[in-house]
Amino acid sequence: MEKVIVSASKKYEILIDEGILDNVGKHVSRCCSASKVLLVSDTNVFPLYGERVISSLEDSGLETIYYVITAGESSKNSESLFELIDVLADNEFTRFDVIVALGGGVVGDLAGFCASIYLRGIKFFQVPTTLLAAVDSSVGGKTAIDIAQGKNLVGSFYQPSGVFFDPQALSTLPDEVYADGMAEVIKYGVILDGELFSQLEACGDHIGVEQIKRCIEIKRDVVEKDEFEGGMRKLLNFGHTFGHATEKVSGYSVSHGRAVSMGMRIIAKACYELGSCSFDDYSRLCALLDKFSLEPIAAFKGEALADAMLFDKKREGDSISLVLMDAIGKCRVEKMSVFEAVKILYLGS
Ligand code: GLY
Repeated sequence: MEKVIVSASKKYEILIDEGILDNVGKHVSRCCSASKVLLVSDTNVFPLYGERVISSLEDSGLETIYYVITAGESSKNSESLFELIDVLADNEFTRFDVIVALGGGVVGDLAGFCASIYLRGIKFFQVPTTLLAAVDSSVGGKTAIDIAQGKNLVGSFYQPSGVFFDPQALSTLPDEVYADGMAEVIKYGVILDGELFSQLEACGDHIGVEQIKRCIEIKRDVVEKDEFEGGMRKLLNFGHTFGHATEKVSGYSVSHGRAVSMGMRIIAKACYELGSCSFDDYSRLCALLDKFSLEPIAAFKGEALADAMLFDKKREGDSISLVLMDAIGKCRVEKMSVFEAVKILYLGS
């Protein structure tokens, strides 16, 4: 078993272990004094792992109620949130009871946000089943739902009380969902770890537990230094400003990881054009994205992307912070006018 400890506003363990899906109950009981669990999952994941997790929770003496949302981003909304709240209240969940999120980013974000507001906050645990959730969304405490005006616009910083990841879950992931997670894995190499990037260049078409753990450690280090995204955590947004704009312009038909990979290509090209990184570094990034099936997607017009970017939730008045690449493994956050950011977008498109 591999373990990463996060010491943020809450201290918790991230456990990586083959077969941990059958031991979720044991770990939840160890970390809290709940008597009831609401297991939240989705229509893709619940049929695969729901029964195993329920058995493990019940075997540990935890009364388990489950709630299954329709798989997909469109479920991450206020309707699902209030349905979950109703289930908790109807079943008389108290502040000592907990939520367990079994699934990818949508389930984790929704269940985490619900946990952060029900009774002003109850404990929750993440059991990520996608690569993206394992290396990114289950770690660090960002929770949210989407509203008509945009993605993740209503949410909270609320750390889980434990994260339990079973690498066996990756074996059932469709290729395109695996590739989605690889975009975030590659991002960690670009922003902070040239050695990880080289390992990704050298490995086969799937990564191992060693690289997954490394990504989690990088995120842990960043979150411990800047939990509420006042500074360094913004590095994790490399490729995300143009990525979010791409997602939005596509009407969310382009998945998050794919959009971020496109955003990374755009910003890296602009950085090369501006002389901030070398052509070799830019080319290495493009080649690695290609290797993991994150090929360039049909370009959306710069104008539409620029419009979408103007409404980015990370905009600070007339400024925006972009993450620029100096080299593989070395990036920096630069605050600039929105006008400058639009120029960079055009340069990289
Ligand atoms: N996904 C970026 C962050 O958690 O800050």
